Amino acid sequence: MTKLGRQIGIGPTDNTSDQRTPRQRLRLIPEAARASFVPFVPARYATRAHEWDLTRISPDRPRATGSPIEVTGTLKTESGTPVRNALIEIWNANHHGRYRHIEDQSGLQLDENFFGMGRVLTDDDGNYRFWTISPGAYLARPDIGRWRPKHIHLSISGGSSRLITQMYFPGEASNESDPMAILMGDAFQRNIGKPYETPDIDVDLGYQFDIVVGGRNATYFE
Ligand SMILES: [Fe+2]
Repeated sequence: MTKLGRQIGIGPTDNTSDQRTPRQRLRLIPEAARASFVPFVPARYATRAHEWDLTRISPDRPRATGSPIEVTGTLKTESGTPVRNALIEIWNANHHGRYRHIEDQSGLQLDENFFGMGRVLTDDDGNYRFWTISPGAYLARPDIGRWRPKHIHLSISGGSSRLITQMYFPGEASNESDPMAILMGDAFQRNIGKPYETPDIDVDLGYQFDIVVGGRNATYFE
């Protein structure tokens, strides 16, 4: 078999890298073709009714510790067209700054009433809404004393595309020194949720975070 380029094996038992190695020169896809984000959602994105509300593990369980907030927004294309039926997943640290994840070895307090993940499909107008607990900031690199400002991770899936981003909060002390924020440059401002008052007594504050896929004003994706 002709082999072009360097091969990367995954492990000693992996013998499929031959098949995954390109046999032809890589070609750059034109910008116009790259920007497509297909809002087709296969049936496997069957979300459950309660998954938009992270403040309770299930409707009959107590509220998680911390300040309940609402996060809403619209998913739009570059031209402003709403994207319906896209899957939006979010996850964030609990009130104490701890993730319910095996890699979070911080030792900070877990909250038995906070699972920390939720998902919804955008509606016909491209809108989404979550309730969650305002996340704690966390010490991401204890060795160099680097904090991550409070933030919410979001994943947007449509068709075969999956984009990952983060929503930040305005006025946080460690926003400016955050490595992700530095990477984003000017786009950082677009990734800060806009606070709004909500008449809903179940949440303290709302944050609007519109997500734009493609174009000059695109949301920053990792
Ligand atoms: Fe995080």
